[in-house]
This record gives sequence, structure tokens and C-alpha cells, in this order.
Amino acid sequence: MKNTPLPRLDESCEIRKALLPYCRLKAGEIWEDPLTGHRVGCLDASSLEQVLYLTGDHKTTLAIHDPPYNLVAFDERPLHQYVEWCARWIENTDRILSSDSSLYVWLGADQNDGFQPLPDFMVMMRGQPFRARSFITVRNQRGYGTQKNWMAVRQELLYYVKGRPTFNVDAEYTDIPKILRGYYKEVNGQITENLQRSRSENIRAGNVWVDVQQVFYRMEENVSGCYAQKPLKSIDRIIRASSAPADVVVDFFSHSGTTLLGAEINNRRCFTMDIDPLFCEITIRRLEHYRRTGRVGWQNGHPFEDQYDCPRQDEAEHSKGTRSQSKVAQPSLF
Ligand SMILES: C[S@@+](CC[C@H](N)C(=O)[O-])C[C@H]1O[C@@H](n2cnc3c(N)ncnc32)[C@H](O)[C@@H]1O
Repeated sequence: MKNTPLPRLDESCEIRKALLPYCRLKAGEIWEDPLTGHRVGCLDASSLEQVLYLTGDHKTTLAIHDPPYNLVAFDERPLHQYVEWCARWIENTDRILSSDSSLYVWLGADQNDGFQPLPDFMVMMRGQPFRARSFITVRNQRGYGTQKNWMAVRQELLYYVKGRPTFNVDAEYTDIPKILRGYYKEVNGQITENLQRSRSENIRAGNVWVDVQQVFYRMEENVSGCYAQKPLKSIDRIIRASSAPADVVVDFFSHSGTTLLGAEINNRRCFTMDIDPLFCEITIRRLEHYRRTGRVGWQNGHPFEDQYDCPRQDEAEHSKGTRSQSKVAQPSLF
């Protein structure tokens, strides 16, 4: 396994400077994929003008947003400013979603600060033209905590809709076999148990997902330099449940480009953006790398390997998810 990961790109001024000349996009620009029409913009999600520039006249059916959480590992701002900022990109999302559509938002809660911003965001959403449908928790296998508190292992995912969007329940089935028997019921004079009556031998993901591995440096999908990457499996599940082939999926906070890759794999188009040209470039490279090699990330290598020799990192210090306690790099762990 290669061991040349990039450190967090938002914190490494020197490396950012070295990599920026390789970025195709500058602020305000859009790259359009010549093969299937995906779009990646170096744009600001809170600007309606820029969002409309990205989507044009297309009405989209699914939005998957993963904004900075206003807590550990991101810039923090006063809570009311953060929520006002969220309201702006939510209103922009409303403008580009069709009348029957789904919106998923990943968000954290800071247990050291009154659980902000999750409840504040939820209250703000009550004033928006979306209906709440589910509050999903993704359960990480590893987490962090002290011996004096419950280990923090959760990531929250909010699901809202407009109108009556697609929901493909087959996407919800996991690979986990049902193990509990019971729930006896009489059907046509016969006593049956739950396994005989059910549609599948496997359990549904429901609103607590326990079968999604958090990304770390040994996984092929790992994109070093990114500090907030979501697992492809979770994005894949959302795309299959809440869109149809050829639909357009949007993601305003691309980062490592997981939504774009999930859309490519499932034959959807994706319009995505990031305010940072480095993450736009990584998004485009991840798609190209996948098309060239069939690989979904660089494991413990990195996206600029052909142009930039990253100084060899001490694995324990720089690999995602291996830092101990207070210096955890994953913002999704709180
Ligand atoms: C939590 S990460 C998204 C992670 C992504 N889901 C993935 O799997 O890689 C948030 C991203 O939002 C970007 N961002 C922050 N403010 C933004 C804004 N106003 N408009 C667009 N992108 C923004 C950051 O540069 C960062 O890359």
C-alpha cells in the first residue's frame, strides 16, 4: 500500500500553494464533463446567481448536501450567522429542485456546545417549503470519547421532501441477514413467523444505518487531503432510494466528490460545486481516476501523484482516523 497521503488541505498553506497551479477551475468557473454532462463549479452555495449558473434551466430531483458543521475541524461562526447562512443555501436548493423532490442534509451536533447547530437548523427548516420525512443516524464503528462519557459514534442525516418524490424501497435492503425469529401471526389459518412473511432475508437499513464503514486510510475510496469525506455506500443508498436513472442530483459541498462518483456509478448526472478550487479539482480527478482505473479513491496515495511528490508522512500522524482523542481529524465525529 502506498504511504504518501496529503495532509488536510485546508490547513497546509505550503501544499495548497504547490497544488493550486494544477487546478482547472478558478472562482466563478464551471467544468462540464464531455462524456455525460456532469458539472463541477467553483462556486458559492449561498449565492443564488451562482447556483443558477450551475444548474441552468434544469430542474433537479435530489439534493444531497454536506455543509461545514460549525464545529470541531471547521471554521466556527456565531450560531445565528451559521443558521442564516444555511437558510440561504436551502432557499437556493428550493429554487432548483422540482416539485416532487428529495433533500438530504448531513449535519453534526456539538455535545460540548448545547448540541449546536443541529436543533437550530431543524427549527429553521420548519419555515422552509420542505416536509420532514426522516432523521437518519449513521453509526460509525470507531468514535472518540473519554472514559467518562459515551463514545461518540454517530453522524446525522436529515431527509426532507417536496411533493411526492420517488422512494425506491429496494435500495434500503442491507446485506445483514435477519437473525431474530418470532412475531407469529395467523395467515390463512396457518401460524407463520416473521421470516416466512417478509420480502427479504435481510434487514432494511431503516433510520439507523449500522452497515456503513467510515472512510479511513486503508479503504480504496479514501481521498487523502480531504478531511470530511462521506462513505460512498451511504451516498449510493440515497441516490438509489431517491432518484431514477438519468435524473440530475445536486450537491453544493462537493469536497472529495463522493456524490458525483455515486451519480456516475448509478447512471445519474450530477451538478456539484465547492468554494475551494482544490476540492473542485479533486472532484474532477476522482471521476477521471474512476473511469480510467475502476478505483473509487487513492487509498493512502493522493490525487496529484503525477505532478506532486508529497513528503512521506508518518502514518500514525497523518492518516485519517488514526489520530488520538483531542486531535481527531474527522469533523463528523463530535
Ligand atoms: C463537509 S465537506 C463535504 C464532504 C463531501 N460530502 C464528501 O463526501 O467529500 C464541506 C465542503 O464544503 C465546502 N464549502 C464551504 N463553504 C462553501 C460554500 N459557501 N459554497 C460551496 N462550498 C463550500 C468546503 O470547501 C468543503 O469542501
